[in-house]
Amino acid sequence: MREIALNYQALLQQVFLYRKRAYAPYSGFSVGAALLGADGRIFGGCNIENSAYSPTLCAERTAFAKAISEGCRDFAALAVAGGPSGEEPRDYVSPCGVCRQWLVEFCRPEMPVILARTPEDYRIYSCGELLPHSFSAKMLCETEESDCSL
Ligand code: THU
Repeated sequence: MREIALNYQALLQQVFLYRKRAYAPYSGFSVGAALLGADGRIFGGCNIENSAYSPTLCAERTAFAKAISEGCRDFAALAVAGGPSGEEPRDYVSPCGVCRQWLVEFCRPEMPVILARTPEDYRIYSCGELLPHSFSAKMLCETEESDCSL
């Protein structure tokens, strides 16, 4: 139990470090995320905006892209924090709908998602709580063409 709490502290430190690296000139809203791999590695990410707006990448998907491209696909926790750039977060930032769909692609429904205001003040939800009744690979397996290997 203690070990888990210590891991969360390391994860939360990364969230706030990566939040400072956000490229958010259009929204002025900086988000940091950190994914804890089952092997103990931590992958941090920040939001990366674009002048065309829709190509914007959220902090969570930046972290997922880093982890998966480094060969990590087994995750133990995700932590997120965000708010107006240059200020302490005022509230708990919850992953957007697209990021929730990424979450269910790679994470078990029980996996904890930590929404932090500060490294000491956070709320823990499960992946399944954030996106219940989600579309997933299982549904593709019900079609005749699919090989059900996912
Ligand atoms: N954003 C994230 O990075 N993660 C979320 O879950 C919510 C929104 C970013 C996208 C955009 O750069 C800014 O926050 C405002 O929406």
